[in-house]
Amino acid sequence: QQVDVTVPVAVHIVHAENGTGNVSDSTVREQVAVLAEAFGGGLAGADTGFAFDLTGITRTANSAWFSDFAEHEDEIKSNLREGGAATLNLYIADLGEGVLGQATFPQEYYSDPQNDGVAMSYRTVPGGSQQDFDRGYTAVHETGHWLGLFHTFQNGCTEPGDYVDDTPYEAEQASGCPEGRDTCPNRRGDDPVSNFMDYSDDACMDEFTDGQAGRMGDHWTAFRGEQAQ
Ligand code: ARG
Ligand code: ZN
Ligand code: CA
Repeated sequence: QQVDVTVPVAVHIVHAENGTGNVSDSTVREQVAVLAEAFGGGLAGADTGFAFDLTGITRTANSAWFSDFAEHEDEIKSNLREGGAATLNLYIADLGEGVLGQATFPQEYYSDPQNDGVAMSYRTVPGGSQQDFDRGYTAVHETGHWLGLFHTFQNGCTEPGDYVDDTPYEAEQASGCPEGRDTCPNRRGDDPVSNFMDYSDDACMDEFTDGQAGRMGDHWTAFRGEQAQ
């Protein structure tokens, strides 16, 4: 089901006491603009019906929190989290070597509301230092999870795949930008390597599908919108 929703975004920057990771306001605004463009179909693919509105930025100088987000996650989130199921809390910190992002799924709000949200490495913001992942699409990918999407390679070549009809099956994650790859030859279509829910480089991804828009809309209605709460 297609929705028309503006999601409030509460950004929480957790940075080192020496300033590492203290992403600027303008970069945060750019990151939210990237979310809006991606979910609006401004690059390619579907207009999902989701818009995003930056409602505030918190800044916390805490080197222990910054450098080991997983270890301090409960403490960080209980101190910083804002709003309810419909507010996207976006935590920016150092998630550890090679970890780009992390997200909770919509249903999880009801067993663990405090944990709800998206975390991303400060290196993955637009113009960040993470090679090949510096356009801000990590936040797009994680927000896809937060709205109920699985990876395009979920369940490999077997049903029900990613539970979305118009994303071709894919045996395993893509890396880099392998255009024309076809890991499920007995299934329709080449691998969806340009989909935000694959693992390709940022430079290679630019779309959600109509089916993904519908699944996110369904999840919004069931778990996050006013009618769900
Ligand atoms: N590996 C991460 C995850 O599974 C994020 C991948 C993001 N990909 C990207 N091109 N930014 O949540
Ligand atoms: Zn993912
Ligand atoms: Ca599919």
